[in-house]
Amino acid sequence: MNSLFSPLKAGLIELPNRIVMAPLTRARGGAKHVPSAVMAEYYAQRASAGLIITEATMIAADGCAFVEEGGLFNEACVAGWRGVTDEVHRRGGRIMVQLWHPGRAAHSALNGGSQPISSTDRAIQNDTIRIPGLGAQPYEVPRRLETHEIPGIVKLFGEATRRAKQAGFDGIQLHAAHGYLLDQFLRDSVNDRSDAYGGSIANRAKLLLEVVDVASREIGAGRVSVRISPLVDYNDIADSNPSELVAYLAAEFERRGLSFLELRQHAHVLPAEEQLVGIARQHFHGVLMLNGGFDQASGEAAVSSGRADAIVYGRAFIGNADLVKRFAVGAPLNAMDATTLYGPDGRGYTDYPVLPA
Ligand code: PHB
Repeated sequence: MNSLFSPLKAGLIELPNRIVMAPLTRARGGAKHVPSAVMAEYYAQRASAGLIITEATMIAADGCAFVEEGGLFNEACVAGWRGVTDEVHRRGGRIMVQLWHPGRAAHSALNGGSQPISSTDRAIQNDTIRIPGLGAQPYEVPRRLETHEIPGIVKLFGEATRRAKQAGFDGIQLHAAHGYLLDQFLRDSVNDRSDAYGGSIANRAKLLLEVVDVASREIGAGRVSVRISPLVDYNDIADSNPSELVAYLAAEFERRGLSFLELRQHAHVLPAEEQLVGIARQHFHGVLMLNGGFDQASGEAAVSSGRADAIVYGRAFIGNADLVKRFAVGAPLNAMDATTLYGPDGRGYTDYPVLPA
């Protein structure tokens, strides 16, 4: 029987434990989105995680949907991330970069006037985006990508994966969740296309699978993972048949030998959520990581029962660089300070107390 402390092989990546750090936007990348020394320190402090997955990282210079996220779209970004991966590795950790294009969740005011792109020309409704200096703004109407532009998107992910390898990452995760660009193709409340990238599940999954394939050619499928969230409605998105969508994707990931699949759900307590875990397991026999609402006890239960191979923790890693040790000794967790989540410096980032050595 496995526990959170059992080692795990996820494709080509060997994890010493099953307590994985989730991607977390912390906005310390500066205006140029280049990782800095304080980011290297932050990630390296968390090197005892079974695996670190970085913050959602921009693959395109005009793919910003927040402020000061890390990027991986030029050589300066590669050099910045090299400083991070070197420090994580020096302290014995493993780190994968999450590659991300926000699609219609971006805004022209954050991207030098570039109109957001998407699978559709319909804007995100009933939500706003925070623009520095302007406050909360409605989302913009995106430009629907033409079919002939889609190879260009695949190429962006391929190039970012090549840079990830140059920067020394152990692997990459494709962010196909939370209503961002890849998800805007996957789910049918947003994807209203009539070309080869819309309509059937196979067509809607075509972009993601082309991206998986280009990334696998660059870095090896055993170093590529995908995050999906078929039931999460964040960014105004839904799917009419999540079970079929997961069955199809899981089978395609199985054929391709991915490092792992991360299933992000709201809280992993609803019957519909449980059902998707079963479907993912049925069709994908590689490593399945679950994320959403777990504490130590529920994470332990999911791993020991075999429902999950590893648990991805977000908030708990913000205030607890030594989360693995705290779980191991049953120490209380530091609470996270929400006022220092997004920059500008090490306060509330690298200065949470850790247990004495
Ligand atoms: C998310 O995946 O929900 C996400 C990604 C990037 C952000 C914020 C949230 O900057």
